[in-house]
Amino acid sequence: MSELKILGIVGSLRKDSYNAFALKAAQELLPEGVSLETVSLLGIPVFNQDDETAPPAAVLEFKQKIMAADAILFATPEYNYSLPGGLKNALDWGSRPYGQSAWQGKAAAIMGVSIGNFGTARAQYDLRKILVALDMPVVVQPEVMIGNAAERFDQNGVLTDERSRNLIKKLLNTLVQLEKSVRRTTG
Ligand code: FNR
Repeated sequence: MSELKILGIVGSLRKDSYNAFALKAAQELLPEGVSLETVSLLGIPVFNQDDETAPPAAVLEFKQKIMAADAILFATPEYNYSLPGGLKNALDWGSRPYGQSAWQGKAAAIMGVSIGNFGTARAQYDLRKILVALDMPVVVQPEVMIGNAAERFDQNGVLTDERSRNLIKKLLNTLVQLEKSVRRTTG
């Protein structure tokens, strides 16, 4: 049986991003037969509808990675009570031209890390709303909202918090189940 491919998308470009570290932790917690590749949003220009039928190379490459994946795992920070503009921008590129969205029907899961108390809750609910527009089935529970990041990761960026690790493991298992049920339904 072929391996199930998850594409991890980090909403932060920061070198020592906690969200990138959380995806790294997810890589260690994958169910058997599942792979997780991460794509960076670095180099994706601001969306211009004039270019949507002939997008820049970085966008084409990004879209191809989405299309080659079976499922998507978002790891997003919260910027000013919402998702980072760069992530929204990438979602917009991937959705166009009309009728040629790379996201359509693709199973997804969301997690996020912040240095504050709310663990990206506000950003995640905004992202969930956008995924409705993109017609993506999304894991509902568990919600993986990791707050107070400095206490949950060690100095090497390893997620040491057991509760968070268990939640990510559960999220991955649920994403795989969701992807399988989507696949069964759509053939
Ligand atoms: C933040 N941060 C932040 N945190 C939060 O919990 N709620 C918020 O609304 C914001 N707003 C915000 C705006 C901007 C522009 C920045 C740069 C940061 C702090 C944020 O949680 C922190 O920088 C994280 O470390 C960002 O995630 P990465 O880059 O570590 O993955």
